[in-house]
Amino acid sequence: MADKIKKINSSLVNLKNEAASIGLVASSTFQGGSSHDAGVDRETVSSFAQDEKYIVGREKVVLEIVTTLIDSRNTQKNSLSVIPIVGFAGLGKTTLAKSIYNHDEIGRQFTIKIWICVSIPFEVKSILNKILVHFKPEKAQEKEAALKNLQEHLKGKRYLLVLDDVWNEDPDKWNDLTNCLSSVKDTQGSSILVTTRSEKVAKIVQTLPICNLGKLSDDQCWLILKNRAFLDDSTPLTKDQERIGRDIAKKCAGLPLLAKVLGNMMRSKNIDGWRVIQESTKWELSDGDERIMSILKLSFDELKSPALKQCFAYCSMFIKDFEIEKDDLVQLWMAQGLLHPSSSQSNLEMEDVGNQYFNILLENSFFQDVSMDNYNVITHCKMHDLVHDLAELVSKSKSKDSNDVRHMAQPSASKLQGIPKGIVVRSMFL
Ligand SMILES: Nc1ncnc2c1ncn2[C@@H]1O[C@H](COP(=O)(O)OP(=O)(O)OP(=O)(O)O)[C@@H](O)[C@H]1O
Ligand SMILES: [Mg+2]
Repeated sequence: MADKIKKINSSLVNLKNEAASIGLVASSTFQGGSSHDAGVDRETVSSFAQDEKYIVGREKVVLEIVTTLIDSRNTQKNSLSVIPIVGFAGLGKTTLAKSIYNHDEIGRQFTIKIWICVSIPFEVKSILNKILVHFKPEKAQEKEAALKNLQEHLKGKRYLLVLDDVWNEDPDKWNDLTNCLSSVKDTQGSSILVTTRSEKVAKIVQTLPICNLGKLSDDQCWLILKNRAFLDDSTPLTKDQERIGRDIAKKCAGLPLLAKVLGNMMRSKNIDGWRVIQESTKWELSDGDERIMSILKLSFDELKSPALKQCFAYCSMFIKDFEIEKDDLVQLWMAQGLLHPSSSQSNLEMEDVGNQYFNILLENSFFQDVSMDNYNVITHCKMHDLVHDLAELVSKSKSKDSNDVRHMAQPSASKLQGIPKGIVVRSMFL
């Protein structure tokens, strides 16, 4: 095994040298991940990206939870209040939590607000350290030291802690975390908001009633769809557009993620294109992840060129919810020979083609959470975890019959060791 690892290390060095010779430079894009295994890190942020600001139909539940959190000072005397938001993938739990977190009244009532994406694994030490980063970026500390530090920072303050995307079903680990937090003095009225897909998790953590997030109505899905399909809302809709659009919205079954993706897809299509979506057989699958995935795949199938599809599939190599640096991504596409200017664009530089591809993928919701620089130029983006699943799915199916596992970014030791014999890795970035 030691020999194997040595060999891998030396081929990594070669790969790194090769990357430098074709103009790829080391950048923070590939250094910012956590120590989590690939495929389980789904970090989120507390702020809304530009394209996420249009939120439909959650005003009432936002207000209810904001009020409950604020009142918890009286209703949950001397103890930490916990409200879980539970619901299936793509229903809008993280979005709802962001709306609450950024609500003006929450800002007024809670001295400190902290947003942490938990995902897998659930480690108390790591969560305490993540909370500490809010106060000062420090090296990770042992649990006891981290807790001592936290006691200093949180003492006498009322705080709101959001734990997004919790999967831990072990009550002992949860109790360990809440015991640590409860040991901080004078934090009356402090609260935790948890988002999770699991009802079991919700039941373990709740001290206040669970928020079972409901689906959106067909009309609300239609609003999201319309907002995406028509950037200019002053143009009146034709009768056919309204009828077909509403029918597609109904088929989204209350899932905002689907309404958003399909709305983006419909923007570039004429009414015949809308009809094709409406009549797709993918709708016939029963509820559940498989249905969501196959509808998301509709928008992948609709991508115009095979090169664009390859560029999207290539993004599966990033760990989930990784902050992708746009310029680096374009360089990587170039280095892989994935960018092909169409014959009418033969005068375009490769970078321009890459930027075009990036924009098309962004317009179709394959990327989200964009960050911009001071000149409003996009610098970074992320992928929704379900869209990442789709990228993994299509990149696997592409090479079903070959021994080629394509590209890997930041593979963990266990992932490296898990590569079966005979499998070819074409590129790897550390
Ligand atoms: N009420 C809403 N109005 C408009 N768009 C929404 C709404 N809720 C969610 N969205 C959009 O739908 C997508 C999925 O939402 P979100 O990430 O909040 O889902 P989630 O329930 O947290 O999913 P997961 O279980 O995968 O973490 C996001 O791109 C978000 O911008
Ligand atoms: Mg989420």
